[in-house]
Amino acid sequence: MPNEGSYEAALKRSDQIQRDLLTNPGAYRMLTGDRPTGRLHLGHYFGTIKERVRLQDLGVSTNVIIADYQVITDRDSTDNIADNVYGMVMDYLACGIDPRRTMIFTHSAVPAANQLMLPFLSLVTEAEMERNPTVKAEQAASGHALTGLLLTYPVHQACDILFCKGNIVPVGRDQLPHIEITSKIARRFNERYGRVFPDVTGLLTATPLIPGLDGRKMSKSYGNAIALSMSEAETAKLIKKSRTDSERNISFDPEGRPGVSALLTTASLCTGRKPEEIAEEIGMGGAGQLKRYVTQVVNDYLAPIRERRRRYEDDLDLVKDVLRDGNRRANAIADRTLGEVREAMGMVY
Ligand code: TRP
Repeated sequence: MPNEGSYEAALKRSDQIQRDLLTNPGAYRMLTGDRPTGRLHLGHYFGTIKERVRLQDLGVSTNVIIADYQVITDRDSTDNIADNVYGMVMDYLACGIDPRRTMIFTHSAVPAANQLMLPFLSLVTEAEMERNPTVKAEQAASGHALTGLLLTYPVHQACDILFCKGNIVPVGRDQLPHIEITSKIARRFNERYGRVFPDVTGLLTATPLIPGLDGRKMSKSYGNAIALSMSEAETAKLIKKSRTDSERNISFDPEGRPGVSALLTTASLCTGRKPEEIAEEIGMGGAGQLKRYVTQVVNDYLAPIRERRRRYEDDLDLVKDVLRDGNRRANAIADRTLGEVREAMGMVY
């Protein structure tokens, strides 16, 4: 976590850009993405996917990387990787990411972007990489020896952002240190070899952290996540078996009543109503009534997304075409940037 002062500064800069975006969307290029380890869930949707669609619809150049190489930062296999990648494209399209306006591509298909690793690695120190909170957290969670790929994680994210000259990256507060390394790399490259890369800013999103059904972070591995691709019946079942507590009267108290409050937050996000207001309405109706309400509003909210997703499930060829086209465009951009890098470094023979 960066210190308060630098957080305040980042927030101010981010707010400025949020305002400027509305009148000057053409000045911005967004890059963000996901690791294809499973299906997207409501946490992803409210945390980042909605914001991507908003930026896309504003007319910002939007680019989404499916970071397949990142899957092996802390895993020993690539089982189901192709299915996960196609499933992710389906989730994106179903949520309103439009492949004509947003470039969707996979890490592994863009060799010139990956080649930026070599010059970029020369611009950072081992200590800088080890200090990165994500590297530390993932390392602690993995039960693995620290792989070179995990250690250099902030550098390959810099490659992802900079190959397409991304200048805004939507992030949560915890990810600001990534963006700091990326902008350091860009600055150091520009100072040594001449300006090739833009200034990069983390665009802080206002959305609060979306709790899973048990109040912990929403994550597939905790079994507390509502996947966008679930059926209505699966959604109902998951909500039904979520843990609440023995107090009948429903109230919003995230600290004291994490299960009940997570359900209220979920309903609040899907309806735009305040969690306190929903709690009051249900009152002595208890957890059973609350769960029925949450199931209803989640399924209603997701219905159009799910309907669109089913269409893509039935048309894998289209999904593959979207990816092939994105990869082709990404390669053209990466080749151009790598050309500029070689030229700046005097490596044109
Ligand atoms: N690390 C991100 C995730 O875990 C995915 C990602 C890869 C990314 N490269 C990026 C995000 C660059 C922002 C910028 O989902």
